[in-house]
Amino acid sequence: MESLPLLAIEELRGTLQTALIGKTLIYHPTLDSTNTLALDLIRSAQADGTPPAEGTVILTDHQPGGRGRQGRRWQSLPGQQVLLSIILYPAFPLSSLVMCAALAVREAIAQTTALSPAIKWPNDVLLAGKKVCGILIETTNSQDNRWNAVVGIGVNVSGSFKEDHELAERATSIAEQGNSTIRREALIATLLQCFEEHYLQLQYGGSEGARQVWSGWREYLVTCGRRVRVQQGEQIMEGLALDVEDNGALLVRQDDGTTVQIHWGDVHLL
Ligand code: BTN
Repeated sequence: MESLPLLAIEELRGTLQTALIGKTLIYHPTLDSTNTLALDLIRSAQADGTPPAEGTVILTDHQPGGRGRQGRRWQSLPGQQVLLSIILYPAFPLSSLVMCAALAVREAIAQTTALSPAIKWPNDVLLAGKKVCGILIETTNSQDNRWNAVVGIGVNVSGSFKEDHELAERATSIAEQGNSTIRREALIATLLQCFEEHYLQLQYGGSEGARQVWSGWREYLVTCGRRVRVQQGEQIMEGLALDVEDNGALLVRQDDGTTVQIHWGDVHLL
């Protein structure tokens, strides 16, 4: 492999303005998966002591074992992606955490580039209809009414997937969509700032905080009003995406007229 472009981690530490998210930063140029390390840190503390600080962020430049939703792999573009995981102990539903993460990524790209990403239910961030960011939320045993949660975020900053035709149809990068000067450090600092703002709204802002995050996320959701194919494991259904419930469930009207609530799965816009 050509030499790996490394994150300027001390510069990032210096520019971070957050109070919680990223106060502890763990960085390794190569890591099998940032989510795996985050889950290991939580589990080993459960066995023998103090849990990792809430808001701990794990970063890498290259992730050979990157994991996606539904058991898929997350393709690494070494040195060209934002690859991070955040350790959190939310006292609110995970469906809101999904919205918090997608909204923060969407805002960070909009604030650091001239681009305006969309959100596809539940948490893909799109540019020109293609996926520029994937989010994987994983949990371990919860305690005291709080989840032990890891929010894994992968953003394609530069490079492209043109070597892989099938992936190139579905995935893109910020540079490929016209912004080739963005630095990963600036995007990460803005992303963590936006994430913190919405996380605190959810954690401490009660129903009004949850409503604000929901409506920010809903404003950029492109799924409603579209015909969709929903894949849940082996099961596939099609219909018209009508709206999203307060709990994050997608309402889909099937061709036989029945409406179903979708809580998980992959949604393809048709
Ligand atoms: C998806 O769209 O399927 C979710 C992809 C999530 C990828 C990120 S990259 C950082 C973190 N570590 C992982 O192993 N996966 C997530």
